[in-house]
Amino acid sequence: MTSSPIHEQPGLRELLAFYSEAGVYEALVEEPVDRFSEIAQAAPGQEPRMSAAPENRRPAAADRPRAAAQRPAPPPAPAASAAVPDEAQVALARELAARASTLDELREQMAAFDGCNLKFTAKNLVFADGNPNSAVMLVGEAPGRDEDIEGLPFVGRSGRLLDRMLAAIGLDRNSAYIANVIPWRPPGNRTPTPHETEICRPFIERQIELVNPKVLVTLGGPSAKLLLNTTEGILRLRGNWRTHQTRSGTSIPTMPTLHPAYLLRNPAHKKLAWRDFLEVKAKLKELS
Ligand code: URA
Repeated sequence: MTSSPIHEQPGLRELLAFYSEAGVYEALVEEPVDRFSEIAQAAPGQEPRMSAAPENRRPAAADRPRAAAQRPAPPPAPAASAAVPDEAQVALARELAARASTLDELREQMAAFDGCNLKFTAKNLVFADGNPNSAVMLVGEAPGRDEDIEGLPFVGRSGRLLDRMLAAIGLDRNSAYIANVIPWRPPGNRTPTPHETEICRPFIERQIELVNPKVLVTLGGPSAKLLLNTTEGILRLRGNWRTHQTRSGTSIPTMPTLHPAYLLRNPAHKKLAWRDFLEVKAKLKELS
């Protein structure tokens, strides 16, 4: 009996497509490799030697090392553990963000920044959508698959719900500005690590500062926790006005609310989000 070649076996193509979608581009190698030190050691402007590069940036198969024996010895591990934010990258992100005096400059700085590993598995930088002159800015967590493909935040299922929620208070993408804490899709939509979040923090903080909205709305727990500097859970936080303090000292009234993806899974909680959005509408009226 002749068995078919491995690449013709049923399901294999689909499995590989699934791995690719999830950001898995390389099989296990024989020696452990410290990917975080690869990022830390890359000079600014130079791509780290990461195996998890996006499709269009992958080296040709023939150029890819196959086993540890062919790899150069891994660089020495950095002093900080991988779970601790890389202070050098956070400092660099902060410096680049501070240097941007317009949103276009900020987008350019972010596009050129190589200090966050998520950039190398994402297809696109997801910077923002909507009108930067709006009175209201909404901040989600991180792009998903659809957002990664289109390079725009909230264009998938949860984005369609968000559009309906905005419409319910008379807003749309011409009268609201939308961004995310993390501008690159985490592979397979996994939760961004604290390390990744801290590296991206300076960019979203600067983006808020440059937009300078009258009202900020955080969508979901991670965005609320980061921008309000709290560890409180979203079900406690939501519905109550808080303050986002910018680095330059401006206080922005902030309404933490539930994430549209959560509402899709828990439709009974849509009434809570509705109340929060009515609060936002009233505050915008009060401040106009
Ligand atoms: N979820 C988010 O938090 N942001 C998006 O852009 C899409 C889904």
